[in-house]
Amino acid sequence: MSYNVNVELGDRSYPIHIGSDMQSEIGSIIAAEGLSGVCLVIADEHTGEIYGDKVVASLRAANFSPSLVMIPAGESSKSSNQLVDLYSAALTAGLDRQGFIVALGGGVVGDLAGYAAASFLRGIPFVQIPTSLLAMVDSSVGGKTGINLAEGKNLVGAFHQPSLVFIDLKTLSTLPQREFLAGMAEVVKYGIIRDRVFFDHIEAKVEELHPTGNRAILSDLVRRCCEIKAEVVAADEREGSLRAILNFGHTLGHAIENKAGYGGIYIHGEAISVGMVYAARLSVAVCGMSSKEADRIEALLVKLGLPVRAMGLNWIALREAMSVDKKAFGGAPQFVLASSIGTVSTGHSLPEELLEATWASMS
Ligand SMILES: NC(=O)c1ccc[n+]([C@@H]2O[C@H](COP(=O)([O-])OP(=O)(O)OC[C@H]3O[C@@H](n4cnc5c(N)ncnc54)[C@H](O)[C@@H]3O)[C@@H](O)[C@H]2O)c1
Ligand SMILES: [Zn+2]
Repeated sequence: MSYNVNVELGDRSYPIHIGSDMQSEIGSIIAAEGLSGVCLVIADEHTGEIYGDKVVASLRAANFSPSLVMIPAGESSKSSNQLVDLYSAALTAGLDRQGFIVALGGGVVGDLAGYAAASFLRGIPFVQIPTSLLAMVDSSVGGKTGINLAEGKNLVGAFHQPSLVFIDLKTLSTLPQREFLAGMAEVVKYGIIRDRVFFDHIEAKVEELHPTGNRAILSDLVRRCCEIKAEVVAADEREGSLRAILNFGHTLGHAIENKAGYGGIYIHGEAISVGMVYAARLSVAVCGMSSKEADRIEALLVKLGLPVRAMGLNWIALREAMSVDKKAFGGAPQFVLASSIGTVSTGHSLPEELLEATWASMS
């Protein structure tokens, strides 16, 4: 069973193809999108090892001339050094303006390979093959690409939409459980920001949500997230307004990641889980969310096995990190808050005492 979700962006529209066990089809589906010629498949050491040969074989069978390059796994690969190495690999592979790049991996590979595609020869097409749950439901859709600087995450980048997103749900079976759960935090986020019925559905199916779980349930989840992301991106490609709703839970979440993420204490989705509980409590205080609904959000995250508290972090340091966040306005952190599950609004700046007291209530 497979589905297509379309991202409607005029002449830059593209399909998100969702299915399972389709690796043998990748070559022909990419060919059907009108791409041809030389391509560079960029993977990390994990995804390249497991899926690289299959993807290359499928591309070759469809008359492409693929080369595979593997980068070290992890956030540190989203660097200018790695980017320059990829340009060299692209030249060695004979990539020209008629060719394209394939990103085979999680969000790190997607962001880096996407930015390489956005900038190499002033921009060539690329295809996303997301293999982590986070990349399937979030980073592979919407065209944000980029790398980190020593001074901060995602400080250099470009909007560059892929020509196709190809999701093979079967790849989730090899994803580490912790990474799967981190992706589930973003799945829950979609329910909170846009779809109450979807939130109810996640609650109802929570026992069955694991990387090797019921494929039909996973497929439904991934499809709904992609539909919501596609709808938000189509309405606001460059984050002028609506797209900011995707940042629910991310104001505090990014600060936690920034202060405790390095060294692996909190990976992105885990930090976002704590951030969503914080945003829900702020929503009770100023946005009319009922405490019962905030408790439901927290209970669902706990049931999934995600953290809902970040112990041992200093408030002053977190608050400082929120001020320097790219999305802060003159030092004032901006929050996405929910009046109820499924309905959010953006651009809330809140009194200092409330921010601190809400944090204290969670410590
Ligand atoms: N562009 C966007 O809109 C956007 C949105 C959200 C996040 N991001 C970015 O995404 C990145 C995080 O992405 P991520 O969480 O996917 O991390 P990641 O790419 O580091 O992947 C996590 C780990 O899982 C491994 N992995 C991935 N798929 C696998 C599979 N199927 N089998 C076995 N191992 C697998 C990877 O090798 C890695 O070790 C961050 O850099 C973040 O900034 C971008
Ligand atoms: Zn996120």
